[in-house]
Amino acid sequence: MTLRFSAPRGIGGVMAPPPDKSITHRALLLAGLAGGVSRLANPLATGDCLSTRACLGELGIAVEEDPRDGSWLVAGRGLNGLAEPAAVLDAQNSGTTIRLLAGVLAGQPMHAVLSGDASLRARPMLRVVEPLRAMGARIEGRQGGRLAPLSLLAGTGTLRALRYDLPVPSAQVKSALLLAALRADGESSLGGALASRDHTERLLEFLGMPLRREADRIVVTPRPSLPAFELEVPGDPSSAAFFLAAALVSGRELEVTGCGLNPTRLGFVEVLRRMGARVEALAEAQSGGEPVGRLRLEPGRLTGTTVEAGEVPALIDEVPLIAVLGAFARGCTRVRGAGELKHKESDRLQAVRRLLAAVGGRVELAEDGFAVEGPQALSTGIVDSGADHRIAMAAAVLAVGIPRGVEVRGFEAAAVSFPDFLATYRALGGRAE
Ligand code: S3P
Repeated sequence: MTLRFSAPRGIGGVMAPPPDKSITHRALLLAGLAGGVSRLANPLATGDCLSTRACLGELGIAVEEDPRDGSWLVAGRGLNGLAEPAAVLDAQNSGTTIRLLAGVLAGQPMHAVLSGDASLRARPMLRVVEPLRAMGARIEGRQGGRLAPLSLLAGTGTLRALRYDLPVPSAQVKSALLLAALRADGESSLGGALASRDHTERLLEFLGMPLRREADRIVVTPRPSLPAFELEVPGDPSSAAFFLAAALVSGRELEVTGCGLNPTRLGFVEVLRRMGARVEALAEAQSGGEPVGRLRLEPGRLTGTTVEAGEVPALIDEVPLIAVLGAFARGCTRVRGAGELKHKESDRLQAVRRLLAAVGGRVELAEDGFAVEGPQALSTGIVDSGADHRIAMAAAVLAVGIPRGVEVRGFEAAAVSFPDFLATYRALGGRAE
């Protein structure tokens, strides 16, 4: 799908982001492992999360939709009740699906094969395979387990307790290990790079799991069962980020309602503040252990900033937007310590370089980040999403600051995380035609 985006009057107003992708995945998986029927209200019923749902179906876990409100009713089979999948579990484009499922399935008394689309089959898997092997799981894959498809060979159902320091701050790896640790023969302890989104920890705590969060370690005690639960999935701050950035570029106000306000996801809000916006976060409720509420942005003069490595985990999916903002900001905008971006749905460091080059802009790439001097004189151009949802939507934000807009090819990728992006863009003053 090719669309021309522009926003002659800018983007602003009030919006509700789609349901959180990360929380939908985790709630689905934990509901599948619970004993009884769980209800997930406001699930993200698109792209990646449908991959998780379909894989659960292959494992014998029925997910029905309540016609009254679209909630998902998940018939959990207990921690040890999964059915052996008769087909390859296809995670499609979703890194969260394949890595978290590797944790759920490692050492189970059944054979399972995990795979995905060409992008996913090129993404690194050893980061999850190695520690799961240390727990006793037998996992094979291409290049010694570096790449999917991954074959998880039948085990006894129980894993060895793990003491492990994560080398990369990946929530997917951390979550896979926390899920595997539920079936270990003793207490597992994770340390190292833990400063990534903590939805799995919060959800396990919400379910009453004895999870100890110490200063620099997480300790998990296995449990024979998990209770069924009810949860309303909050709005996704990473989706809201596109419109917060667009409003700042437009010099207009934006209010985001029903948004997850977990601090491990709000690094981008802090960057918006440093770049000149006033952003207020107002917590109004709790859901599944997550704070939920509003974000209110008042624009200011866009100014460059430096994002250091330690900040990256809390804004990992928003880095392309920082490059877009940098092109309109006064001074230099720099991101360091973001080498992980090479391993996302596409190589997002190269993708931001191509994104700005397509409109006559310039990004100076480094090994683990980039620098953008601004403001740049940008003109209309054609951007290819490279089948990466966040690049497609970042291009639509870039268009807001360019009088004749930007043409985006492959925009359908946006549906992976934000199915109503076009409707929201138009409702807030943008054009997509
Ligand atoms: C996610 C974690 C992040 C993020 C991805 C979703 C998750 O990946 O980029 O969009 O739900 O755990 P990493 O954990 O690999 O950094």
